[in-house]
Amino acid sequence: MAFPKIVFAVIYVFSSSISVQATTVTPCTAVGDIPLPDNVEIENCVEPPCIFPINSTINIAMNFTSPRRLDRIVPQAIGETSNLVISLPLEQEDACDGIVNTECPLEAGQDVEYKSQLSVSSDFGEIQFALEFFLLDVDEDSFFECFRADMQIVQTY
Ligand SMILES: *[C@@H]1O[C@H](CO)[C@@H](O)[C@H](O)[C@H]1NC(C)=O
Ligand SMILES: *[C@@H]1O[C@H](CO)[C@@H](O)[C@H](O)[C@H]1NC(C)=O
Repeated sequence: MAFPKIVFAVIYVFSSSISVQATTVTPCTAVGDIPLPDNVEIENCVEPPCIFPINSTINIAMNFTSPRRLDRIVPQAIGETSNLVISLPLEQEDACDGIVNTECPLEAGQDVEYKSQLSVSSDFGEIQFALEFFLLDVDEDSFFECFRADMQIVQTY
């Protein structure tokens, strides 16, 4: 009868090593009540502030559950400092291009894996800000996923 215990122990170790990558993010505050994705991974960052050198390209991945049918979706990102809000340009214009496990249109309740990238240019110098990363439903003109994480951009590591 020892067999089931061993199986459980192996599964536990396996699943906890997968979840180590997830980044601790919080709900956005800039705009209303927007759902958090099911899981977010900012590369090389488990506990924000996420520290990156100037000019680095930051890989962002998230899994979310599509709240409804979605035809056209767009990513948007802002950085909030203590006294200003900066718009962070994203190279990806169509969020459908970042969906890795399926294609647009998304159906209600569908599990979606999505990837994007954020580049912080040297224009801002060394800066600390709270990143808010949004996904916009273009047809309804409303955000349907968003997360917030503190970021710190440094000259070098
Ligand atoms: C999303 O889910 C897939 C499949 O379960 C998993 O491989 C991937 O690591 C997840 N990504 C994130 C950011 O949680
Ligand atoms: C960042 O990129 C700009 C433009 O390519 C360059 O002028 C600058 O020296 C770079 N800064 C660093 C710290 O690498």
